[in-house]
Amino acid sequence: MKPTVFITRKLPDEIVAPLKEKFIVRMWDSEDVAVTDYVLREEIAQVDALWSMISDTIDRGMLESATNLRVISNMAVGFNNIDIEAAKEKGIIMTNTPDVLTETTADLAFGLLLATARRFNTAEKELRQGGWLSWTPMGFTGMDVHGTTLGIIGMGRIGEAVARRAKGFNMQVLYHNRNRKPEAEETYGVTFAELDDLLKRADHVVILVPFTEETKGMIGERELSLMKKTATLISVSRGGIVDESALYDALNNKTIFAAGLDVFETEPIPLRHPLLTLPNVTAVPHIGSASVETRRAMMRLNVEAIINVLEGKEPENRVV
Ligand code: DGY
Repeated sequence: MKPTVFITRKLPDEIVAPLKEKFIVRMWDSEDVAVTDYVLREEIAQVDALWSMISDTIDRGMLESATNLRVISNMAVGFNNIDIEAAKEKGIIMTNTPDVLTETTADLAFGLLLATARRFNTAEKELRQGGWLSWTPMGFTGMDVHGTTLGIIGMGRIGEAVARRAKGFNMQVLYHNRNRKPEAEETYGVTFAELDDLLKRADHVVILVPFTEETKGMIGERELSLMKKTATLISVSRGGIVDESALYDALNNKTIFAAGLDVFETEPIPLRHPLLTLPNVTAVPHIGSASVETRRAMMRLNVEAIINVLEGKEPENRVV
C-alpha cells in the first residue's frame, strides 16, 4: 500500500506531480479558504505525511490522534502554528522552508518601511478619491528613510538581509538579539543595543523575531512609549509580538508616527479591527514571502522533505 499525503491547500498540479508519482495524494479543495479543523483532524489521524500552511493550527490533540504520521512539512520558515513538542514526543518529523524566502521577505520588510514612512497608503487613497488638488509644499509629507537610524529586533537571516538593504540607504543600523552577533557586526557594520536603548534611538524599528513564549507581547505600552514620536514600527514576523491594543493607542495618540504591518494577532485581521481605522497604519495580508519564485521554491522544499522522509531518508530543514 502506497503512503498517503494530505496537502492542506489546493496547489498547482506541476508542483504536486512528483508526490503523485510515488504516493496517494489528497488535497484540500480550495486555494483561498483554509482547511477546516474537522478535516485537518480527520486527515492527521490517517495519513503518513502532512503538508501544512501557517494558517493551519496543529495542536497536541490532533497529533495525539495520528497513527501513521511520519512527517509534517510546513510551508513557512516559522512554525508556531504547530505544537512541535507534541510532534517530537510522537516521533513525528517536522520540516520548514528557510533560506529560500530570506531575500524576498527582506524586500517586503524594507518596502513596507518605505511605504509606511512615506505614507504611500494615504497618498494613493487621496489620489484615487480626488483628494490630490494640487502640488502642495507640505502635502503628503512623511519621514525620511535614507540616512536615518534603523533598529532591527531579531538579527537572524532576514534581519541580516534587511541590514544589507539599509546600508544601501546610508542608514545606521542598531540591532537587538537574544545573542550578540559579532560576525554580523563585522560584516554589516551593525551595532548591538539593548532593547530599550534601540527603541529610544531608532527612527524606524523592524520586528523580525519569531513568535515564542518569550517574544509574545514583547512590544507593549512601555516599549512603544520609549519610541520617538517620529518613529515608524514595522512588524513582519508574527502577530502577537506587538500588543495590538497598545499599538492602536500609540498610533491614535500619535506618540509614534506610523506602523507597517504584515502580520496580526488574528489572521485574517477582522475588517472591523480598530487598527484598520487609522490612516497611519499600512497593512498588508502576510505577504512577506509572496513572490512567485519564492513561493515555488518553498513548495519544492516541502515536496523534497516529504519524499525524503517517506523514503526513509533524512530531510533537509528538519526542525524536530
Ligand atoms: C514564514 O515563512 O514564516 C512566513 O511568515 C510565511 O510567509
